[in-house]
Amino acid sequence: MASFVIHGGNPLRGEHTVQGAKNSALPILAAAVATKSKCVVHRCPMLSDVTATLQILRHLGCRVTQTNGCVEVDASTLTSAEIPMCLMREMRSSIIFMGPLLCAVGEATLCAPGGCEIGLRPIDMHVDALCALGVQIDEQNGLLRCTVPNGLIGARIALQFASVGATENAMIAATAARGVTVISNAAREPEIADLARFLNRCGARIHGAGEGVIVVEGVKTLHGAEHTVIPDRIAAMTLLCAAAVTKGEILLRGAAQDHMDAMRNLLERIGCTLRQFPNGDLALKLKRRLDSFPSIHTAPYPGFPTDAQAAAMVLASLANGTAIIKETIFENRFRHVSELRRMGARIRVEERVAVVEGVEKLHGAHVDACDLRAGSALVLAGLAAEGTTVVNNIWHIDRGCEQFEITLKQLGADIKREEV
Ligand code: EPZ
Repeated sequence: MASFVIHGGNPLRGEHTVQGAKNSALPILAAAVATKSKCVVHRCPMLSDVTATLQILRHLGCRVTQTNGCVEVDASTLTSAEIPMCLMREMRSSIIFMGPLLCAVGEATLCAPGGCEIGLRPIDMHVDALCALGVQIDEQNGLLRCTVPNGLIGARIALQFASVGATENAMIAATAARGVTVISNAAREPEIADLARFLNRCGARIHGAGEGVIVVEGVKTLHGAEHTVIPDRIAAMTLLCAAAVTKGEILLRGAAQDHMDAMRNLLERIGCTLRQFPNGDLALKLKRRLDSFPSIHTAPYPGFPTDAQAAAMVLASLANGTAIIKETIFENRFRHVSELRRMGARIRVEERVAVVEGVEKLHGAHVDACDLRAGSALVLAGLAAEGTTVVNNIWHIDRGCEQFEITLKQLGADIKREEV
């Protein structure tokens, strides 16, 4: 197992090019299966979740090459529609392969992904949406056998909740359905619009992605395409927070400013000076203690993203005043609280509400990462803390933060990766 050893107190200074969005790259790589052709994906972040996705693509018979940030998927050699449990367990978001496989070959066999560190993560909305499109799903002992006895048929789908994954699976499956599909209460995250742009490049006819209602006109076949993934707004926020908590300054090259309104608003309200450049670059400077932190609650896009909640809690832990943070998306996404408390943070949790009383200083401690965003938040706390912090189980962080310690070291942090 590996850990990060961090000696806190160095202000982060410098510039960094933002990685490609993990939550855009994963569904786009899966969607390449639907084309049964060759696709090229640029700005694909080098993450363990991407590696897991490439493993599944190879298991399905696709030819895959990865050269730095460029991934080529040749899905013309698809030989299987079954994803074994061992690969599904690697990464629960592999559920996104349902839609692409149904598009490509009219069947998909995979196991229900099950819960994870942040919640039960049911897939009922995925199942309901796909069944509305004519998919028959037989579940036995957690194994889902999906078939389309009469082919995929366009339908009106009303999602109970603006689920990102269910929107993606429905949108991908609908591209090959006979007729028109309307998905209402669709997720509006930028990653959804990026996936739609990729699919439309492949010959799909998707309208309204990124808004609440998505209309998909089914087509007979999709062809290969080349696509560049949007920048990762959560990775960008993580680095902005790293500069803020260490009273430093950072220039993010290629940030997706217009995907970050809620996060930028928070940073400015707590005293950070933000400068947005016409080319998309985003600079942050902060030379003093963070001002009082306004209360926030997480919400579907364009609300404050749940994936930035843990980083925001580190900001609140060091801010001047008391803040309320409400997590409305996942039922178990405060697991970083106990670890932050070990570093001197003053946080009380009641169900999905955390009350955070800011302190002048955090102190180093041995802490455990228990999910991707909680883990990266603990690193932020270690960068700001007095003394040494050891963050264990950093494989969680490697799932979504590309070369995290290398990036932070280049910005002046005293951090190293140690194999324990
Ligand atoms: C995506 O997960 C992201 N993952 C998550 O990022 C992100 O936190 C989440 O969207 C919300 O923005 C990827 O894109 C790979 P949801 P997803 O379906 O699609 C419930 C990260 O750290 N729900 O929008 O799984 C669910 O339990 C990860 O990068 C159902 O009840 O999220 C949750 O409470 C973490 N039934 C809520 O909806 C369903 O069928 C939102 O889930 C589906 C979801």
